[in-house]
Amino acid sequence: MAQLWGGRFTKETDQLVYRFNASISFDQKFYRQDMEGSMAHVRMLAKQGILTEEERDKILEGIKGILADVESGKLQITDQYEDIHSFVEANLIDRIGDAGKKLHTGRSRNDQVALDMRLYTRDEVLETEKLLRKLLKVLLGIMEENTETIMPGFTHLQKAQPITLAHHMGAYFEMFKRDCSRLQDIYKRMNYCPLGAGALAGTTYPLDREYTAKLLGFYGPMLNSMDAVSDRDYLIEYLSAMATIMMHLSRFCEEIIIWNSNEYQFVEIDDAYSTGSSIMPQKKNPDIAELVRGKAGRVYGALMSLLTTLKGIPLAYNKDMQEDKELVFDAIDTVKGCVALFTGMLDTLRFRKERMNDSARHGFTNATDAADYLVNHGVPFRDAHGIVGRLVLYCIEHQKALDDMSLEEYQAISPVFEADIYEAISMETCVNKRLTIGAPGKEAMERVIETYREYLDSHVRTV
Ligand code: ARG
Repeated sequence: MAQLWGGRFTKETDQLVYRFNASISFDQKFYRQDMEGSMAHVRMLAKQGILTEEERDKILEGIKGILADVESGKLQITDQYEDIHSFVEANLIDRIGDAGKKLHTGRSRNDQVALDMRLYTRDEVLETEKLLRKLLKVLLGIMEENTETIMPGFTHLQKAQPITLAHHMGAYFEMFKRDCSRLQDIYKRMNYCPLGAGALAGTTYPLDREYTAKLLGFYGPMLNSMDAVSDRDYLIEYLSAMATIMMHLSRFCEEIIIWNSNEYQFVEIDDAYSTGSSIMPQKKNPDIAELVRGKAGRVYGALMSLLTTLKGIPLAYNKDMQEDKELVFDAIDTVKGCVALFTGMLDTLRFRKERMNDSARHGFTNATDAADYLVNHGVPFRDAHGIVGRLVLYCIEHQKALDDMSLEEYQAISPVFEADIYEAISMETCVNKRLTIGAPGKEAMERVIETYREYLDSHVRTV
């Protein structure tokens, strides 16, 4: 057992207590950030004359050596240490002797761990956004190719009105674009440095917190030392953004599962992204989509878990906060894995355009347009609605689509119909006349696609 404390204790820690308390099994994940934070701290201490330049250089060299050895696998992080902070400090003292004992001057593990976690998640927030942007690119590609691919749009999972595949994909483009902007917002709010807050009340050493913050790429130091060690809002925000991403992915997966079903056959999931059954040779299952949908629950759970952990914690640091790590790490790994896999699945998905078109044609998705035709010929909308209702009933009885009825059949129900009804209710007309902003009409869609292209091309890091 290697601990950083013990001076005021007369007994060894109970083994079970030690293991219960220790965090090295998971906080080793930010070993690099811990060492980067320590190096910045040491540079600042020397600049302020709290350490000599010689001490600084010795410590920096020592930490760099530890970092290199950990990265090359020469030095193992083992559970003989309580946490990653103890691991680094103990190894440093082993390597460079007494100078190593000065590393922790003007610092507490409370501000140290707050820093490490912030540094780790800060990178991950950007990584998550990067993965989402790859997904957006794939979505844009599908949109560009499918502004004329007609399919039914649904409400209540009942065919409603014809749309295009580009339009449907565009809805997801909007969702994931919002997710990207949420991540950027989080980055902007979280990018302030807790280091220098000490245990909770700052320190009497003349630390230059602005300097440390700048060295570590923060906008500046956090302005209240108690808040600095106990703020986990950024993790709640990140988990909430990740839960929303999973919700979006899950809805998309649900649609792919439905579209891939024997009944719909709108899409075929690529063999590389499907799995078989151990007993039913004919099966090709959408397991990946189902797993992504399933993992949404896990990420929601992490958000709820951390909210609950934090709700009763008095200021400032309390050990409960150690519980933030495993669930945030797990959520990050889950979300990144799911976004990447989903992107691959979508990129290789085969759309059965004929089936989609056929489905749109055979579900009375143009019934609203038939009513609008009558309205344009002077029939009040309520009457038009009734007439088209009778048309639909007639078609169901005779197993026809509206487009397949003869003009005589139309006129038997309402004499207002003329030969131009066919043109008026063709799928292409139904879609392409819908030209309001955000509607599926080809011209409207192309304007939106252009803005998406610009969004993806021009996107420079705004954080
Ligand atoms: N492992 C602790 C955590 O993750 C580090 C901070 C420990 N500080 C303390 N006072 N016990 O929160």
